[in-house]
Amino acid sequence: MGPHAASRPLTLSEQADELEEKMMNELNDKIATKSALFSMADGNLDYVGGAELQARNPGKYFLMGADPRLPKMPDKPTLIDFFKHRFVSMNHLLQSAALALKAGHDEKVVLACLLHDVAVAGFVRCDHGYWGAQLIEPYVDEEVSWAVRVHQALRFFPDESIGYKYPDMYVKYFGPDYQPEPYIVEEYKRARSHKYYMTARLICVNDIYAFDPDAKVNLDDFVDIIGRNFKQPKEGLGFDNTPSSHMWRTLMWPTRFL
Ligand SMILES: [Fe+2]
Ligand SMILES: [Fe+2]
Repeated sequence: MGPHAASRPLTLSEQADELEEKMMNELNDKIATKSALFSMADGNLDYVGGAELQARNPGKYFLMGADPRLPKMPDKPTLIDFFKHRFVSMNHLLQSAALALKAGHDEKVVLACLLHDVAVAGFVRCDHGYWGAQLIEPYVDEEVSWAVRVHQALRFFPDESIGYKYPDMYVKYFGPDYQPEPYIVEEYKRARSHKYYMTARLICVNDIYAFDPDAKVNLDDFVDIIGRNFKQPKEGLGFDNTPSSHMWRTLMWPTRFL
């Protein structure tokens, strides 16, 4: 599409064309595709098949690797690389870990706090405890992944023995009448008698949003703890053939056609 006369406002379809052209340039002329989940998040189940998508973009191929609109990842990415280049927010995780460290908890608890919401930060919100645990399971002590999995359920249940009450924030977010679903209640009941219960509970205790806004937290403060407690694969996350390698690759290449 060529330059347009400034005297006339663009029609909607011209605007759409211009946006598409801009996107194509950024994409080095490749077609990036959205997975079903991305569209569902906008409330639609529309499916446009590959043939039709390509027909709308004549002469172009589908993106089958890195999306040039996103920060470049190294060939052998580490957890730190994902923190820096993929997680949309680090602050909450860093603050939770910093609180746990300050309280003198052991490194497994600190790491569990640092990773407790990785799914929210980089992947998907629904059932974030389960997704997050699955993502890290091959690389951490089972105590850490177990705690990340169940913190999602424990957050809804008070434990006065350790001074944890139902979060005010949840009343604000979900309304005063919100009741967790039965599978969450069941998870909580199972967790209560589990040997790692307190690790998951400590995530809840350190999992607060109203943290000192002036506190300076930095990922560098946790590099050593990560080094000692997260088994970074030498091939890079995504290329080490574990049950969650594909999840790391999807995080790295979220718009690949296949
Ligand atoms: Fe969480
Ligand atoms: Fe959290």
